Amino acid sequence: MSTAAAAGTWRLGDLEVNRVGYGAMRLTGNGMRGNSDGRPIDRGAAVRILHSAFERGVNHIDTAAFYFSPLRSANEIVNRALASWRDDVVVVTKVGPGRDPSGQWLAMARPDRLRGQVEENLRQLGRDHLDVVNLRVNDLGTSVAEHFGALAELREAGLVRHLGLSNVRPEHLAEAREIAPVVCVQNAYGLDRRRSDESGLVDLCRELGIAFVPYFALSGLRREAAAAPERDARVHTVARAHGATPAQIRLAWTLHRGPHVLAIPGTANPAHLAENIAAGALRLAEEELALLDEPDAAGA
Ligand SMILES: NC(=O)c1ccc[n+]([C@@H]2O[C@H](COP(=O)([O-])OP(=O)(O)OC[C@H]3O[C@@H](n4cnc5c(N)ncnc54)[C@H](OP(=O)(O)O)[C@@H]3O)[C@@H](O)[C@H]2O)c1
Repeated sequence: MSTAAAAGTWRLGDLEVNRVGYGAMRLTGNGMRGNSDGRPIDRGAAVRILHSAFERGVNHIDTAAFYFSPLRSANEIVNRALASWRDDVVVVTKVGPGRDPSGQWLAMARPDRLRGQVEENLRQLGRDHLDVVNLRVNDLGTSVAEHFGALAELREAGLVRHLGLSNVRPEHLAEAREIAPVVCVQNAYGLDRRRSDESGLVDLCRELGIAFVPYFALSGLRREAAAAPERDARVHTVARAHGATPAQIRLAWTLHRGPHVLAIPGTANPAHLAENIAAGALRLAEEELALLDEPDAAGA
């Protein structure tokens, strides 16, 4: 069985994780955009997905208190899954944005409200401290100093072990690092979404020894919508050569951007989970990477 360790490991501060992890946003069923139609995911099935991930070596889970559908929450499911799991799993959560109980998005929390958000995650996850908390920025034009300073105080107080940033630019990373160590940066990134390459952030993280953790690496520009059938001819070509699926090639491409890049694909489908973890074992040739990097070749 292919394992999440096939692509190697990385350290989030003092916490070592396998480079292929799992994003829990998709575990709640019904979607995140208020579309509460359809049946909620079966709790047992959701927990089994996580156990199946852990059995294959996934020990890095991304979650948030604001990942919930009307009858399920990602944190509740992660908590349940970890209750009967023997090994250490690093749980990364994020604060800043929030949703009211009906699911409506709230404005970015003020710095003095971040403690409440951290405590909400602690309660939901059933923990006394959080492994890693990302400050998820909404407005790229603003300074992160006050918010990150508030999180640094919670780190000093022992509620949080390590801090990260999400949805940021290089200047935010510089600002935050003046305040406290940053162990990871989580940005939207994939073959179709290369802003973090254009700004130099992916390489900067590598230079600084900080994990770069792409989200939407599979769903791309469709974001929270279900991933569409692959339309990129280059991805199909490389997939055929490896007997792999297009989704695996997309994940493998992100992992080839550097040893500091971690994957957190989200899925509620056990077969997709197995595929995603197996993608860590794929080794793409230089010519394949060059082909995938060619501009404007999409649209097969
Ligand atoms: N920091 C942030 O602001 C932020 C924002 C969004 C997400 N995130 C985190 O990042 C994680 C990843 O993002 P994401 O879940 O939105 O998007 P993603 O991983 O890019 O893609 C998930 C979509 O792809 C499908 N999929 C997964 N594996 C597949 C496979 N092997 N073959 C075909 N389709 C596959 C999933 O559907 P199936 O369920 O059918 O497999 C789902 O529709 C999230 O779970 C969340 O933890 C962070």
